Amino acid sequence: MCAPDHYDVDYVINPWMEGNIHKSSRDRAVDQWQKLHHVIKDHAIVDLVKPQIGVPDMVFTANAGLVLGDVAVLSRFFHKERQGEEPFFKQWLEENGFTVHELPPELPFEGAGDALFDREGRWLWAGYGFRSELDSHPYLAKWLDVEVLSLRLMDERFYHLDTCFCPLQNGYLLYYPPAFDAYSNRLIEMRVPAEKRIAVAEADAANFACNSVNIDDVVIMNKASDDLKNRITEAGFRVIETPLTEFLKAGGAAKCLTLRVTEPVRVELHASATIESRTIRLEGHLLDSGLINRALDVVVEAGGSFQVLNFNLGVQRQSTSSAEVKVTAPSHSVMETIMSQLIDLGALPPPQEVCDCLLEPVSQQGVAPDDFYVTTIYPTQVRINNEWVTVDKQRMDAAIAVSADSKTAECKLLRDLQTSDRVIVGVEGIRTIRKPESREQRNTQEFSFMGAGVSSERRVELVVEQIAWELRQIRDQGGRVVVSAGPVVIHTGGGEHLAHLIREGYVQALLGGNAIAVHDMEQSLMGTSLGVDMQRGVSVRGGHRHHLKVINTVRRYGSIAKTVEEGVLDKGIFYECVRNHVPFSLAGSIRDDGPLPDTQMDLIKAQEDYARLIAGADMILMLSSMLHSIGVGNMTPAGVKMVCVDINPAVVTKLSDRGSVESVGVVTDVGLFLSLLIQQLNKLTSAYQMAQRL
Ligand SMILES: NC(=O)c1ccc[n+]([C@@H]2O[C@H](COP(=O)([O-])OP(=O)(O)OC[C@H]3O[C@@H](n4cnc5c(N)ncnc54)[C@H](O)[C@@H]3O)[C@@H](O)[C@H]2O)c1
Repeated sequence: MCAPDHYDVDYVINPWMEGNIHKSSRDRAVDQWQKLHHVIKDHAIVDLVKPQIGVPDMVFTANAGLVLGDVAVLSRFFHKERQGEEPFFKQWLEENGFTVHELPPELPFEGAGDALFDREGRWLWAGYGFRSELDSHPYLAKWLDVEVLSLRLMDERFYHLDTCFCPLQNGYLLYYPPAFDAYSNRLIEMRVPAEKRIAVAEADAANFACNSVNIDDVVIMNKASDDLKNRITEAGFRVIETPLTEFLKAGGAAKCLTLRVTEPVRVELHASATIESRTIRLEGHLLDSGLINRALDVVVEAGGSFQVLNFNLGVQRQSTSSAEVKVTAPSHSVMETIMSQLIDLGALPPPQEVCDCLLEPVSQQGVAPDDFYVTTIYPTQVRINNEWVTVDKQRMDAAIAVSADSKTAECKLLRDLQTSDRVIVGVEGIRTIRKPESREQRNTQEFSFMGAGVSSERRVELVVEQIAWELRQIRDQGGRVVVSAGPVVIHTGGGEHLAHLIREGYVQALLGGNAIAVHDMEQSLMGTSLGVDMQRGVSVRGGHRHHLKVINTVRRYGSIAKTVEEGVLDKGIFYECVRNHVPFSLAGSIRDDGPLPDTQMDLIKAQEDYARLIAGADMILMLSSMLHSIGVGNMTPAGVKMVCVDINPAVVTKLSDRGSVESVGVVTDVGLFLSLLIQQLNKLTSAYQMAQRL
């Protein structure tokens, strides 16, 4: 222990210190520390380390290092405010005969604050997430020859493992589960049986009940509720409370104020750590596009940690950057989760570590091996026999099947997998090709996705101007535009505009459901939309039956095309499709009335039909149908420009997440969007005509 002669809250390096600078009373702290010292002395021999001026937190000796037998691992403090303590602790450990190991520079580890031995000496629990780095754990395993179980801390208030976790004698454990991520909780539950786990409530955790000193059957702590005291007592322990409120102001209590140097040594057990590390390379507009942030977030959110080994910043606006990042994960499965997401972001292994992909046969038709790689919309290459092979039929949410001669690979939906197929598993030998996103592209994308929802109509107009120009280009060059649309197009008065687009040759295929066709034809045949007169905006008597009458009429003729041919349907979106030979596909849903004879109720066939019509598209215009837009988005590879128009920003954002650089989202009323689009196309047409006349 170290007496609090110079103890004070001098700075803020954890949430407990917030608002407590110079608010602790030295006298009260001395008094509380002496009482703790006294209690511990009744049960153990206490050595003291000399307090030093300028390092007020030295009183928390748990963070001096970690000691097992005659070996000590010295702490490397994360915050510079505490780094001054290191030489004093080192000196004490050496003077007391310990062999002191020091971690490489820039690799933080905060001693027994983040590393707690199982009291039977079976393994070491080691925390990471706030102060200590996961990368320090393999050193502990090596130097102390012990199995290390890594636990990830999630709650800033419990920044050190010993603030929320306290192994007790006889295999008991006092801990606060919400302080850990799900993976760590699972690990704890696997090692400590339910009857030995004493989970504390938040109020006890906030009183630092887990920051206890356990010596034999005694548990010394700041304070605990009656309920917790009863539970600890029932487990065969005696709780001694001794107030440590002055130290709580700095985020520490009983355990933090002590370092145990007589940890149990089990000679028959040996080092092991399941921790895995890998190095990845990232290239592109890493800062401009936020790619580096996204990659590092992926690592941390999945439970890993990282070290940026080098970063070459592109000096000019157009030049790209590159980075090499060491990724560490507490287990193989966490590493695979992280790597598959990093591959989606375009991460590559360093050249010397590139190896072939792993293949496993399909043993049951329509079912992939457990560990199969799930595809994204991005062009993907896989390494087979030392060659990178480009995957065909790229789409998201598929498996990659490799041909029998190992020369080709293609995306296959689970349902299409055959027992003769071999599928790529794991994350080796897979890379995705991401077009570098520049600052300009990113700004346009964000402007339209984020901006339009809260922006003036002028901003929507700007996006529409650009889309109109591209539509015109695609049409003039004989390209392909596919529209997916929901019935809101009709309800908002956009039907005539979409019909106009089809008539003028801007649309090469139309995708939708039963509703858009029914409501379009209701409007054409009866002048109403869902029974509302579209001219006068009032409900028509009996109008709610109109759409069923329409369905009935089309069923009588056998199809939409026949209804047109018979001269019954003579205007509207679907009339224009039939007249202009624009193919359409209507996918069924559970809420469909009728359905129309054209609506495909076999959804697998409907998906195939959609995929056929999407193939070769240059642009997909998704108009106000969450169901169909997301369905279409899932089938579309990167490189196809997707324009998603919806009044709900959440739908637009959802599509933007899977969209490529080329995608644009417009948060606005679809009727308004279509009318602006037509106006803009008309303007362009006049401009072209003027130019020709000149
Ligand atoms: N009578 C029928 O047979 C019938 C009726 C309705 C729907 N359906 C079927 O149900 C399925 C889902 O229908 P859906 O695509 O209409 O619903 P959906 O919920 O998938 O999508 C509707 C979308 O329109 C958006 N929206 C609402 N008002 C808007 C506006 N003014 N401007 C722009 N966007 C707006 C919503 O935010 C939503 O994302 C389809 O297959 C459809 O055919 C059938």
